[in-house]
Amino acid sequence: YKMGPRVVCDAEKPHVVCVPFPAQGHINPMLKVAKLLHHRGFHVTFVNTVYNHNRLLRSRGPNALGRVPSFRFEAIPDGLPETDVDATQDIPALCESTMKNCLAPFKELIRRINTREDVPPVSCIVSDGAMGFTLDVAEEFGVPQVLFWTTSGCGFMAYPHFYLFIEKGLCPVKDEISLMKEHLDTVIDWIPSMKNLKLKNIPSFIRTTDPNDIMLNFIVRETCRTRRASAVILNTFNDLEHDILRSMQSILPQVYPIGPLHLLVNREIEEDSEIGRMGSNLWKEETECLHWLDTKSRNSVVYVNFGSITKMTVTQLEEFAWGLAATGKEFLWVMRPDLVAGEEAVIPTEFLVETEDRRMLTSWCPQEKVLSHPAIGGYLTHCGWNSTLESLSCGVPMVCWPFFAEQQTNCKFSCDEWEVGIVIGGDVKREEVEAVVRELMDGEKGKKMREKAEEWRRFAEKATEHPCGSSVVNLETLVSRVLLGKN
Ligand code: UDX
Repeated sequence: YKMGPRVVCDAEKPHVVCVPFPAQGHINPMLKVAKLLHHRGFHVTFVNTVYNHNRLLRSRGPNALGRVPSFRFEAIPDGLPETDVDATQDIPALCESTMKNCLAPFKELIRRINTREDVPPVSCIVSDGAMGFTLDVAEEFGVPQVLFWTTSGCGFMAYPHFYLFIEKGLCPVKDEISLMKEHLDTVIDWIPSMKNLKLKNIPSFIRTTDPNDIMLNFIVRETCRTRRASAVILNTFNDLEHDILRSMQSILPQVYPIGPLHLLVNREIEEDSEIGRMGSNLWKEETECLHWLDTKSRNSVVYVNFGSITKMTVTQLEEFAWGLAATGKEFLWVMRPDLVAGEEAVIPTEFLVETEDRRMLTSWCPQEKVLSHPAIGGYLTHCGWNSTLESLSCGVPMVCWPFFAEQQTNCKFSCDEWEVGIVIGGDVKREEVEAVVRELMDGEKGKKMREKAEEWRRFAEKATEHPCGSSVVNLETLVSRVLLGKN
């Protein structure tokens, strides 16, 4: 079911400016929102940072940004020193820098766009929840502003309740020792709709010993600013997080769950159209693994990928490697060049020799295609929200090794609420890797998780079905009520 794009004369188009936070897990879903709005007749300006704009050009070639009418890219500096290294930027530094430095260039950009005769004036802004400075500009120019929190609902919920963590003496955490022991098992049963939680399941930014911690202060500030938005969108769907979404409605501006975004885009936009081909990979995508997967039998391959930000130690890498080797399973492991902290990923030669005929290693893959490939039987993941949602909506069960941010909460919900995951200890040991991966692929629990994931896949499909799927209806309502201001 593909709808034709709505045709409107360019000068009369509404004009949305989309501003992602400059990291992979944020740019990807924002580009999808931009495509969906373009498809609904909007003129789109997509604002990257200069650093990522250049990375996109490097990773995807000079035609990276496509030539889609009424879809333009702009770039503003992120305020950090210039570099041409393709690596994940220091996230706390990036948060602090965008918060302090992006407002002026962004305001200038909007002013400049509004003086142009060849594009319609800016009529609304959709920006990342972590780019709240855009609210000042929306207010100054008198246009509606939608904030897109790219987390799950459950992953977001602790943030607006941070003051309760402070009141209860849980944040900042007393000292490093408390951070490692029973303290982490403190029951958190006072966040609306969030059941059976412990402090260790709460986003890492709240579990800090330092009251001046950059990430804690950043997230608190951005969460507080969310109340000023005209509406909030989330890449999730009603059936998955029903109660949490209801609780969010009572503390935030109107919340619209419009996910899984990749399913909506797949339904509405032809993959080989100019806009369908427009991508947002910051690393060069290697597609060979898809051919390799074509040669494998159904549900036989373990997919291993820790997302765009995770950094592990050499020891952790080795434990994962030897654990995987011991399962005897075939696996596809995506190793970003900057996966190992402080150095290039160094893979033990013996491991490479031992697993030669049953593995594929690559540096960045087309993940959505990989996860929907029938050969993939399970996913060893860092629980980033995009990856979790992509896996769940492809019916793929997971082994969860959360790294930071709200990944711990995503892990908890994947394992206990949605019943599609098994957790693996932070202090990763090869015996445990072997045991959980075997369970995932061949065990009784793995089988149940796969069935459950298949159920979620069907719910995700239902949410994105035209014309009555909950996410479709939410997106249409958001467009007409908020972005076009019709009541
Ligand atoms: C992190 C957090 O985990 C996330 O929840 C938060 O909101 C943003 O920061 P990240 O490590 O980037 O994100 O993980 P994830 O949210 O899963 O996003 C990664 C994206 O890159 C996914 O859309 C995934 O499909 C894509 N990807 C990843 C690829 O296309 N190829 C790869 O090889 C790896």
